[in-house]
Amino acid sequence: MPLQCNTPGQELPRQAVETFRAWYEDAVENPLVDDASAMSLATANHSGRPSCRVVLLKSFDARGFVFYTNLNSRKGRDLRANPGAALCFYWPALRRQVRIEGVVTPVTSQEADVYFAVPRQRL
Ligand SMILES: Cc1cc2nc3c(=O)[nH]c(=O)nc-3n(C[C@H](O)[C@H](O)[C@H](O)COP(=O)(O)O)c2cc1C
Repeated sequence: MPLQCNTPGQELPRQAVETFRAWYEDAVENPLVDDASAMSLATANHSGRPSCRVVLLKSFDARGFVFYTNLNSRKGRDLRANPGAALCFYWPALRRQVRIEGVVTPVTSQEADVYFAVPRQRL
C-alpha cells in the first residue's frame, strides 16, 4: 500500500521541495551512493514505543513523500495507532542527511491505482 508522509492539510514549502529535489538528484547521480532512495522510517506504537527500519522512497512532491508497505506489518500497525512518523535520508558520500517529520496517510485510491498500474521510473 502506498503511504505518504506529509504535513496534514498543507503543502510543503516550495523551497523545501526544490532543495530536497536538488539534493536527491545529487545523490542519485553520485556513483558512490548505492541507493539514494533508501530512508529510515521511524514509527511509534500506541504506547509510544519507537521502532525504525529502512524503506524506499517511491515519489515525492509538495504533498509529501511516498513509500510502499504492507499495512499489516509492524510499521503498518504502528501507523494505524499513531500516524506520526519521521524519515531520515543519509548519503555519506555527500555528507548530507535530510530529516522529515509528519503524519502518514494512505495516498488516494486513484493515486494508488496509478502506482500499481504503471512501472515507476527511478526518481
Ligand atoms: C534496502 C531496503 C529497502 C527496503 N524497502 C522497503 C520498503 O520500501 N517497504 C517496506 O515495507 N519494507 C522495506 N524494507 C524492509 C523493511 O526495512 C522492514 O524490514 C520490513 O518492512 C518489516 O518492518 P516492520 O516489521 O517494522 O514493519 C526494506 C529493507 C531494506 C534493507
